[in-house]
Amino acid sequence: QTEEPLHVMISGAPASGKGTQCHLITNKYGLVHVAAGDLLRAEIETGSENGKRAKEYMEKGQLVPDEIVVMMVKDRLLKPDSAEKGWLLDGYPRSLSQATALKELGFKPDIFILLEVSEDTLVERVVGRRLDPVTGKIYHLKYSPPETKEIADRLTQRFDDTEEKLRLNTHHQNVEAVLSMYKDITIKINGNASQKEVFAQIDGALTTLLEQRKTSSESM
Ligand code: AP5
Repeated sequence: QTEEPLHVMISGAPASGKGTQCHLITNKYGLVHVAAGDLLRAEIETGSENGKRAKEYMEKGQLVPDEIVVMMVKDRLLKPDSAEKGWLLDGYPRSLSQATALKELGFKPDIFILLEVSEDTLVERVVGRRLDPVTGKIYHLKYSPPETKEIADRLTQRFDDTEEKLRLNTHHQNVEAVLSMYKDITIKINGNASQKEVFAQIDGALTTLLEQRKTSSESM
């Protein structure tokens, strides 16, 4: 009997550490990481009309319209690898309408992870964040500095990392509505701790979930 793969959602304010934790989660659990922000940045790179429109909103720290985002996420979740290995959805849904659209399409998470991080820490993280354009790895000048000078010299900063305050407002306006939809399966994680400690909390929650599944399938 093949086991049903895991379906995980992760949410949290800008720079709360979602991308960092997703990297650790996919390494251990083999899920397909579907990040709305990454899909949008890839679309911008192609130079398409949707990409150009999306960038206008992202530069202002506002949500990109649903007609662009919902379709993109849906197409990615429908690919065979996500269906087979399970998915880890990052940065979606960000509004009640996006959550409803996902539900209507039949995508249901097993667990909703909410990373809670204080505002001062978020600002510090966003200011120090750097990306390696070659490997896609996320660094922080203070908390996870690049390993070599060669990497340090090629690091870039994200185009929307200066609008931190605005993105926080957007987040606060939308988070409650999304949370109300998943409150039965939400686990709140203290995201202020080190990357390793935050992952230990998430890992614990996912392990418990898998054990509960095993116990309930054995008792059937
Ligand atoms: P998106 O790309 O999703 O950005 P975000 O939510 O603002 O989140 P970030 O990627 O900024 O942060 P993160 O939580 O992944 O943190 P990270 O791990 O990098 O969205 C961008 C834009 O796209 C949105 O503003 C919107 O316009 C649009 N968009 C996206 N989804 C959409 C949707 N569904 N609908 C409509 N529009 C949408 O960590 C941050 C830094 O902190 C790093 O430097 C990292 O090294 C460091 N760090 C991480 N964890 C720790 C730790 N525990 N201790 C110390 N440092 C840490």
